[in-house]
Amino acid sequence: MTVKVGVLASGSGSNLQALLDADLGPAQVAVVIVNVAGAKALERAKAAGVDAVFIDHRGHGSREAFDQAVVDALVAHGVEWVVLAGFMRLVTKVFLGAFENRVVNIHPSLLPAFPGVKAQAQALAAGVKVTGCTVHLVDDGMDTGPVLAQVAVPVLPGDDEIKLSQRILQQEHRVLPRVVRALAEGRLVQDGPRRFHLELPGGVASLMSPAGLAS
Ligand code: GRF
Repeated sequence: MTVKVGVLASGSGSNLQALLDADLGPAQVAVVIVNVAGAKALERAKAAGVDAVFIDHRGHGSREAFDQAVVDALVAHGVEWVVLAGFMRLVTKVFLGAFENRVVNIHPSLLPAFPGVKAQAQALAAGVKVTGCTVHLVDDGMDTGPVLAQVAVPVLPGDDEIKLSQRILQQEHRVLPRVVRALAEGRLVQDGPRRFHLELPGGVASLMSPAGLAS
């Protein structure tokens, strides 16, 4: 049976593209919602023949009103899982209440290190030698929800924000579709209040194979 997924994006949408190109098993991207006019994610959705909806957050009186409009569009498309793929807004309880433990986000660091914006620049400034990306369930904090999968990525001498971001993005594009597929296959297991894991045929290691030193 098809499991419908809604993707929310604000920018380039390369993670959206990875989802559109991947074999997601039972998961199907049913709608893409974008909150920034002209965002490339909108074009990518249209090119893939997926319903694309622009909802301008500035056109709503409150964050809750905006979230309600987004929830309404997701529900109208029969969405069961929501993926925040470069969606630059914090979601409210209106959103989380409608999709409890069914919203995932991808973030370009090994959380809880370097939450918020410019995670790659934060990693460079801190001088860490390993960073990466995290897929996590969304709660009402900023990048604070339970972690589902992480991939480590080396920080190399001579890296700048762009080079590091690109190396991390390569891994984001690998891991996000695998997580979405696993979620749609019902592989999410809760171990404790904030602890979850994905029960994968190849074990969690199959998500986490090291990025190596290739740039
Ligand atoms: C990614 O680095 C993602 O981790 C972060 O925002 C960026 C979005 O990139 N949340 P894109 O729009 O998917 O290309």
